[in-house]
Amino acid sequence: MKQLKHFLIVGLMVAVFTAALGFFFETAPILPQAASRQAEPIDQLFGFHFWIMAFLFSLIVGFMLYSIVAFRQKPGELLDGDHIEGHTGLEIAWTVLPLVIVVAFSFLGGQALSDTLRADPQAIRINVTARQWDWSFYYPEYDITTDVLALPLDQQVLLRLRSEDVIHSFWVPEFRVKQDLLPGDQVRELRITPTEEGTYQLVCAELCGTSHAYMVKDVLVLSPSEYDAWIQAAIAADPSKSEDPVVRGRHWVTINGCAGCHSTNGAQIVGPTWKGIYGRTETLTDGTSQVVDDAYILESIREPSAKIVQGFNSPSVMPAYGPDKLTDEQIADIIEYMKTLK
Ligand code: CUA
Repeated sequence: MKQLKHFLIVGLMVAVFTAALGFFFETAPILPQAASRQAEPIDQLFGFHFWIMAFLFSLIVGFMLYSIVAFRQKPGELLDGDHIEGHTGLEIAWTVLPLVIVVAFSFLGGQALSDTLRADPQAIRINVTARQWDWSFYYPEYDITTDVLALPLDQQVLLRLRSEDVIHSFWVPEFRVKQDLLPGDQVRELRITPTEEGTYQLVCAELCGTSHAYMVKDVLVLSPSEYDAWIQAAIAADPSKSEDPVVRGRHWVTINGCAGCHSTNGAQIVGPTWKGIYGRTETLTDGTSQVVDDAYILESIREPSAKIVQGFNSPSVMPAYGPDKLTDEQIADIIEYMKTLK
């Protein structure tokens, strides 16, 4: 009878603690806003986890607190407590119960995974390229490359992701899902269906070098009509089809991520600033002088470690840009653009 009273009190304490903690996890702003269909199953799974955590924490702390109070040594009591040796029922319970919970969660996890991977055959394809330390986005349907990622509301997009150098990771916290980008021909895919209009931030979630923390880009979720207008504007303003080599050059620089390492305002980032670079005389690591002319710029893009300016990493951390990434004509445009950076 006395034992039953202990269990009733502890049971009540555990129930109250669980409800209070579970309610706290439910309402506290632990996760950012959820803005994609893929976020729903993930947040639901998070919710279940929080309730289990609340229960287990309350179970342990409830028993402990109650025992400290109810079974403390009374004045004059000098003997050891009862010696208890094993309890088969208890041991079966604490083996079976966690097993059931783990199996249930693996089932729910598998379900959530298949939910986030569910493919819509109408999905809009967008190619995402990452490089140290920048992102660019190619819309094959319209043949445009942009440095902002715009997505239409309530429409699945299939992102095809690859890296030009090291491993990066595509992550917009509000969309929840995350995918690494691998170098070489290993294209990875990620499906996102945005459900809330707004401006979000794409961050790189894989430590990828000096400017990893600054590898961020805006992501716009637009209504279908705004999205169409955005695409039309991007096509109309497509700098790659401009008559002006400087405009084209600036565009090649933007979509190839050059600005991640080369400033145009005199600030030294990872590579030499481009402010006043054309025609400048540089001192190389071997002590010789080098005038920055067309031939030197071409060589430095094709083979970054050939001649390195004093004070910069040797060998260069810049990836080599072969003709498959930048044509000779595009490099000529970039040089025209560099000449304007006085
Ligand atoms: Cu790219 Cu971190």
